[in-house]
Amino acid sequence: MEELLKTGITLKDHDESRQGEALMLDGKQGNTKGRKLYIESYGCAMNFSDSEIVASVMIDMGFETTANYKEADVIFINTCSIRENAEQRVRNRLREFGAIKKTKKDAVIGVLGCMAERLKAKFLEEEKLVDLVVGPDAYRDLPSLINQADEGAKAVNVLLSREETYADISPIRLNSNGISAFISIMRGCDNMCSFCVVPFTRGRERSRDAHSIVQEAKELSQAGYREVTLLGQNVDSYKWASEDGSQSVNFAQLLAMVAEVDPQMRVRFSTSHPKDITDEVLHTMAKYHNICKYIHLPVQSGNSRILEKMNRTYDREWYLERVDAIRGILPNCAISTDVIVGFCSETEEEHHDTLSIMKLVGYDFAYMFKYSERPGTLAAKRFEDDVPEEVKSRRLDEVIAQQQASAHQQLQKQIGKVQEVLIDGYSKKSKHDFSGRNDQNATVIFPVDERFQPGNYVKVLAESCTKATLIGKIID
Ligand code: 5AD
Ligand code: SF4
Repeated sequence: MEELLKTGITLKDHDESRQGEALMLDGKQGNTKGRKLYIESYGCAMNFSDSEIVASVMIDMGFETTANYKEADVIFINTCSIRENAEQRVRNRLREFGAIKKTKKDAVIGVLGCMAERLKAKFLEEEKLVDLVVGPDAYRDLPSLINQADEGAKAVNVLLSREETYADISPIRLNSNGISAFISIMRGCDNMCSFCVVPFTRGRERSRDAHSIVQEAKELSQAGYREVTLLGQNVDSYKWASEDGSQSVNFAQLLAMVAEVDPQMRVRFSTSHPKDITDEVLHTMAKYHNICKYIHLPVQSGNSRILEKMNRTYDREWYLERVDAIRGILPNCAISTDVIVGFCSETEEEHHDTLSIMKLVGYDFAYMFKYSERPGTLAAKRFEDDVPEEVKSRRLDEVIAQQQASAHQQLQKQIGKVQEVLIDGYSKKSKHDFSGRNDQNATVIFPVDERFQPGNYVKVLAESCTKATLIGKIID
């Protein structure tokens, strides 16, 4: 899910009360009024969601945002460390941003997120252009860090927290279509998959107050949003208890609470862990029409020895049993996955187990990666990264080919069926076509009908498909 989002909004996008707040706070926070912020986000949906928290903190300080980094006073890059190439892209981008300092000496460049956490103060030495390094649990500290940077000092806060969930900060929706929004429900990860840097960069797992999540969903519904995605590294281990211990909420219960906010608002979630996804979650999905029938269930490998080495704590049989449970309880549920090829010591036969599980499950969608060793992880400490690069590339090509075949087969099964589609906007190729997504998250393209607009639900008959898209027409 490596995407790039350039975010730009102006104060006119916010309500009057927030503007007032911003101006009042501005007096206390030094000279930030009217200065412009540019944020660029890399990596997972959680990072995009975090950028919305950062924007909220900065706007409270009096900043405005811009979509053009050349006119920004503060440039933030919210970074990803998951694979080496993600980090390389950030370093290249920082060099481009650095040029701005030639003309704007006071410009502040900040590195946020996972790379900030991983590289800490070292970043300031390595990348001379960086003024600010802020880890994912330190965004409340931005006002004082910006002040320090303004005074010419390099500013760092990479403290990880056991409690921070930003529950009380209302995210500023960036680059929003006004239809779909993310809600972060938990932070961190306790799983320690041996390949993964996330437990080190995002810290211990903690769940956000269930009432603040429901409140955020209500506000989104009132603002006209039609789809929310609940985000966490491992949503199935969501567990929140009130301070006096009188109330506790697990993920299935949270899903139900959010689904009940507005039956016209779709609820999605990501990411599920095969070891933790319960039948209770599946039954809750079956009970509510507005909980979308789509589960992102990363398998990583189809071979039990490799899964053990990855410390995934399930084996091939367990995973397939969970898929059977999904198919039994939710017959039309789409399943997507993440796959890593070429993990340490993976043999050709073990790679074929991954191909065969992909074929067996018939994933609707997959994110596929070559293993990339990350410093500090269990795998980097214990195992040799011994699958040659060209073998990794060939195995990746094979899983991509398998996935393309599965995805196409899944789409073909929808042809002739009527889909409930939420219109997202217009097709990239033609203004005469709408683009939307069905319950299973497949993109559906169909001719514009003047009676409808983006944000509406329509019934669409799927008539054909391309490799990755359904094509149809609205039916009354
Ligand atoms: N190398 C390759 N892929 C990785 N992922 C996580 N860590 C690595 C790594 N070191 C993939 C996993 C995970 C997804 C978010 O990124 O498939 O589910
Ligand atoms: Fe990383 Fe595993 Fe946690 Fe996912 S569940 S963030 S892969 S450690």
